[in-house]
Amino acid sequence: MKCYKPFAQGDHRWLVFSQDEHKPGSVVDTNQVAITSGGHAILLDPGGIEVFPSMIGALVQEVDLDSVSHIFLSHQDPDVGSGLALWRQVTLPGTMVHISALWPSYVAHFDSDTHFSPIPDEGAELTLGGTALRFLPSHYMHSPGAFAVYDPTARALFSGDIGAAILPGTPIRDIWVTDFNNHVQYMDGFHRRILACREARDAWVEMVAGLTLDFIVPQHGLAFRGQDVPRFLDWLSRLEIGSGVGAYRGRTARK
Ligand SMILES: [Fe+2]
Ligand SMILES: [Fe+2]
Repeated sequence: MKCYKPFAQGDHRWLVFSQDEHKPGSVVDTNQVAITSGGHAILLDPGGIEVFPSMIGALVQEVDLDSVSHIFLSHQDPDVGSGLALWRQVTLPGTMVHISALWPSYVAHFDSDTHFSPIPDEGAELTLGGTALRFLPSHYMHSPGAFAVYDPTARALFSGDIGAAILPGTPIRDIWVTDFNNHVQYMDGFHRRILACREARDAWVEMVAGLTLDFIVPQHGLAFRGQDVPRFLDWLSRLEIGSGVGAYRGRTARK
């Protein structure tokens, strides 16, 4: 598991754990993020059971586990948080897990003893040490109850599955997109299929375009910085989404 450090200002840091060379080949690669500030840490989409051993091994090189007071899940998928029971066992008892108010009773199937803090639809703020973080509504992008995390001080966004790329298996030694036009091929099919609501897509793009942003980190693939941030938003705003609907065409219930 590699650790990238896209932002550091004193003890306010963004750490991206990624490209786990030890994970089983059947498991999609995921980016796990830790934000530290003022002696506290929050884990964003800390990942599934399969990546837990590598993830915790990499995390403890950088972060004291006793400082992890919050965990954020962008949505309910297993690659986001099926390792919850394991995280509960290695973090202090008061650690809160923030997730859309739609999901605690469902995600409790991963771990019924987790302490959930349901996020209301309109979002919420969280103060981590001296840093104010915002949970931004991202509903239907792709889950009906989804949030992104905005850090106005780091000028950074964790976007969950939005902006995700499924990269080819060749070794990668960077976390940044360096050739956006070439990178589109790794995002295109994924977004066309997992997104279905144009109204939600348009609202999300408008919201994110209004933020001051130096970089965006998605849950899979590479991160966007500088001019690749508006490039990504422009690409997303034009994409034909809902491709799975095509499977219904020509079918009736009696066929
Ligand atoms: Fe997902
Ligand atoms: Fe995902």
